[in-house]
Amino acid sequence: MKRIGVVTSGGDAPGMNAAIRSVVRCAIYSGLEVKGIMRGYEGLINNDVIDMNARSVSNILSRGGTILKTARSQEFMTKEGRKKAFETVKKNGLGGLIIIGGGGSFKGAHVFWKEFKVSNIGIPATIDNDISGSDYTLGAHTAVNTALDAIDKIRDTVTSMERIYVVEVMGRDDPFIAIRVGLAGGAEDVIFPYPESRNFSRNSSGSRRTSGEENFIRDTKYDIDTMCKDIIEGTKKGKLSWIIVVAEGITNAHDVADKIKEKTKLSVRPVVLGHIQRGGSPEAFDRTLASRLGCDAVEALLNGHSDAMVGIVADELKITRYETACRKDQKKILLDEKLYKITKILAT
Ligand code: F6P
Repeated sequence: MKRIGVVTSGGDAPGMNAAIRSVVRCAIYSGLEVKGIMRGYEGLINNDVIDMNARSVSNILSRGGTILKTARSQEFMTKEGRKKAFETVKKNGLGGLIIIGGGGSFKGAHVFWKEFKVSNIGIPATIDNDISGSDYTLGAHTAVNTALDAIDKIRDTVTSMERIYVVEVMGRDDPFIAIRVGLAGGAEDVIFPYPESRNFSRNSSGSRRTSGEENFIRDTKYDIDTMCKDIIEGTKKGKLSWIIVVAEGITNAHDVADKIKEKTKLSVRPVVLGHIQRGGSPEAFDRTLASRLGCDAVEALLNGHSDAMVGIVADELKITRYETACRKDQKKILLDEKLYKITKILAT
């Protein structure tokens, strides 16, 4: 292998630039040439390719977003689109690709590998942290801190105005951000989706776990009536301000705020944090992870791995097939439940 391509795909995440820098410089260190593919898989389809050297990645380590731009390519989902992408790979003499992105990008990479056998290794990068085979994805830590910064500010107005704030955070259908900011921000409750696969927690007779855990485990539909009863009871005991965090994957802040207002007759305000959670300078954790995984990805490619991503589990490198990486991680689901339980215990 003489030359590789690096691409960022899907939603941008803080740490993508740090990963590009690492891939480029580690590849050069290993005697490879590197091309940058612009705008995700769109750039592969349209031969939007640039030369990269050690200097093209100067001063990007601390920058959010991605210098290669990114996109969610509809055309790459078609066979014709992938065929054009393969032409670009051949035209540029790329012996392999490093794909920095999330689950959607990995699913595309898997099909591309099956059809055209272009070696490729993924680096998990998404604020959602919804990938199996890595404890954390690039950007997830930074996004939690960005959302937490907002929650802390909202706390000031919540306590001053003695209101209820319903704060919606991102994460697609994963509760990672919602649960972390709920706990770290001292939220009174978190509304989040439980994936279908949480059925794993059923016992052999098919019934759900009993014990104290049960009180904290809700079904996929959140229970607004119980939450409003808790709020009314709380106000009687002198609790006058509330922050409810809502994960975008289950409902939205406006809907929840309207319902709470209707049922409690209290003053409620919805806040949607939105895409600010995707921006900003990556914190040290994400820069370190990106720098590590960039080098690991180059090495994995050179060692003949493909159709898989590099990740870190318990601080050690783990190579996981895309098919597994795109499944729900049962350990993460259990951890989320545990952290939610702690949030509820502390929110008295
Ligand atoms: O996957 C990252 C993410 O920010 C999700 O949290 C969110 O649901 C989605 O992307 C938003 O996508 P878009 O930027 O295309 O609106």
